[in-house]
Amino acid sequence: MTRGTATDAIHGTRDTSERSVTYPIYQTAAFAVENSDGYAHINDYNADAFFYSRYDNPTLRQVSEKLARLEHAEDCLLFASGMNAITTVLLALLRSGDTLVASRALYGGTITFLRDYAPRFGINVVLLDTDELYQAEKYVPEAKVVYFETPVNPRCDCLSIRQVVAAAKRIGALVVKDNTFASPINQTPLDLGVDLVIHSATKYLGGHSDVTAGAVMGRQELMKTVFSARKVFGGTTSPHDAFLLDRSLKTLELRMAQHNASALALAQFFEHEPKVQQVFYPGLPSSPDYAVACEQMSGFGGMLCIALENLDAAKALCDHLQIGLNVAHLGTAETLVSIPVLTSHSMLNAEELKKAGLTPGMVRISVGLENTEDLIADFAQALGNV
Ligand SMILES: Cc1ncc(COP(=O)(O)O)c(C=O)c1O
Repeated sequence: MTRGTATDAIHGTRDTSERSVTYPIYQTAAFAVENSDGYAHINDYNADAFFYSRYDNPTLRQVSEKLARLEHAEDCLLFASGMNAITTVLLALLRSGDTLVASRALYGGTITFLRDYAPRFGINVVLLDTDELYQAEKYVPEAKVVYFETPVNPRCDCLSIRQVVAAAKRIGALVVKDNTFASPINQTPLDLGVDLVIHSATKYLGGHSDVTAGAVMGRQELMKTVFSARKVFGGTTSPHDAFLLDRSLKTLELRMAQHNASALALAQFFEHEPKVQQVFYPGLPSSPDYAVACEQMSGFGGMLCIALENLDAAKALCDHLQIGLNVAHLGTAETLVSIPVLTSHSMLNAEELKKAGLTPGMVRISVGLENTEDLIADFAQALGNV
């Protein structure tokens, strides 16, 4: 029987020992074997026994299976954080002398890894603008991996997944995509030819600001490589965080519907506010990204960005909110605002900020699950103080 997304996110594999409704937390570092022959498969990917929680653990496996279904993947692996997932995947796929091409507009932590660490391992990193990325064969025909995000943190610019994948296929490169901003409810990139999807599960998948985790999804042939790297780099999620993620997934579809609806309402409100110079939200028909978003997203997401006159105006808005919290985080039940040049992108120099299209007056808004009319009223009164 084919099941809907919410059903899949609620009902995973059951632990039949005590018929518990929630899946138990296997809070153990290791598992005993019945006899020494039990170690025959200790190094196997997808072994049917558990040995050591850094390799895998039943609580993690149960959540991974759900997440794989949500992203239309053959397999999923959980990590200690989104950054841990990103760095493990890239170090697993690339070796000294290889070229990685990435979109210039990325989460600041990813840019820092690509700028400061990847070159130390002999990895040649090339950052391209979106139009150049669509013609990767002209700039980096030797690239082994193409890496990108869409919608992009923090401006929610949308890249065409179809066009990035087409360019990558022309040069025989693997495509890795960060899908954190969209969540699998709004966008399933593997259906469009992406090879591996990565999430900061700290954001929408966790959704309650109480979990730090990452996830990688894809086909088994590639996930086997990622599994081997996770074992060695050691960034496996804790069973307790996996349990919290499982709790969160049960409401993911409901939460995303509300995030999408409130973000659109707030974006429409900002469009008519004179102090807001620009609204970045792919669900607005006036957005240059609207057509691409309609092509590849089933919902436009809970993230939006607005540009005010300058940093002082951005600070005044953030500091006068009564409901929204000024936090360098996103994707949670609480509405969160942050000024990218002070937070997520503070490690970029002036030139990098310019190239990423980021100005000091920008405020990133992660629209939460509060009543929409309360949020509009809160931003209206805070704008009055700008
Ligand atoms: C788009 C995106 N990817 C990855 C990360 C890193 O995730 P984590 O903080 O879980 O390491 C973040 C964090 O903000 C993010 O916004």
